[in-house]
Amino acid sequence: MQNFGKVAVLAGGFSSEREVSLASGAAIVAALRSKGIDAHTFDPKETPLGELKAQGFQTAFNILHGTYGEDGAVQGALELLGIPYTGSGVTASAIGMDKYRSKLIWQALGLPVPEFAVLHDDSDFAEIERKLGLPMFVKPAAEGSSVGVVKVKEAGRLQTVYQELKHLQGEIIAERFVGGGEYSCPVLCGHALPSIRIIPATEFYDYEAKYNRNDTVYQCPSDLSEADEQLMRELAVRGAQAVGAQGCSRVDFLKDTDGKLYLLEINTLPGMTDHSLVPKSAAQVGMDFADLCIEILKTAHVG
Ligand SMILES: Nc1ncnc2c1ncn2[C@@H]1O[C@H](COP(=O)(O)OP(=O)(O)OP(=O)(O)O)[C@@H](O)[C@H]1O
Ligand SMILES: [Mg+2]
Repeated sequence: MQNFGKVAVLAGGFSSEREVSLASGAAIVAALRSKGIDAHTFDPKETPLGELKAQGFQTAFNILHGTYGEDGAVQGALELLGIPYTGSGVTASAIGMDKYRSKLIWQALGLPVPEFAVLHDDSDFAEIERKLGLPMFVKPAAEGSSVGVVKVKEAGRLQTVYQELKHLQGEIIAERFVGGGEYSCPVLCGHALPSIRIIPATEFYDYEAKYNRNDTVYQCPSDLSEADEQLMRELAVRGAQAVGAQGCSRVDFLKDTDGKLYLLEINTLPGMTDHSLVPKSAAQVGMDFADLCIEILKTAHVG
């Protein structure tokens, strides 16, 4: 095997997803060690990143989520330090964090995204309601974990919801409701892994469903027909490629009631606890958690 030297598993960090990141980090350290790799958790909140070199680290396995972790900031710092790191680089990370700009890129390439509108103080809210129909989804472009995601059901409410959300990160976007099912498809080194169907027990896949409940159902293999599975995998690979994602990413999809697939968002740093989605999907093709960690580690790069 390649010599990775002393490996820092970057976990924890400054975002609201700190705890999830630490859980992923601990699982990754154990998996890498089981493969004989000299891996250690490194939490940039506790130790400045600049210490990596002094502590003899040669490679970084990044599993920091959210702000400063998956938005290009830590990637830029690692570039400056000259330490090879896993996953996407600065640009793809920054674009992936921004739902509005990733949609614009996908749209420009002809990839299917749900119809949407960017809201402003002087938007014609009634017209947007008419155009997108009800219910619709309203969300900030640059938050995560379903923070600020609202399902608007009543006519005339859009403007109020916009006013409530506009202090959040990024543009506020209104999106057509796509109600035929939710899926996610991992992409590893430019190749798609099997899709996963997500069936939340709550009305939609909100913060509660993600972190505080254990009744969300994940199906892998999913319920897609062979043809739709192939299509989703192709769309996932193209969607990831379009934003320049590297290493491991996950493209989330919605299916409409007429069966049409839409790209919802890309996650350039998907969770890696042993019950996260990417490990579930990798297991379907016979790749266990430790093998998956090694495949991701091999993607470490700088520049
Ligand atoms: N247009 C839509 N139609 C139907 N359901 C939607 C739509 N947009 C969002 N949802 C529901 O809301 C959930 C959260 O929305 P979204 O994935 O856009 O934001 P997020 O989860 O906050 O982002 P992140 O995954 O980066 O944390 C989705 O998983 C889905 O259940
Ligand atoms: Mg989401």
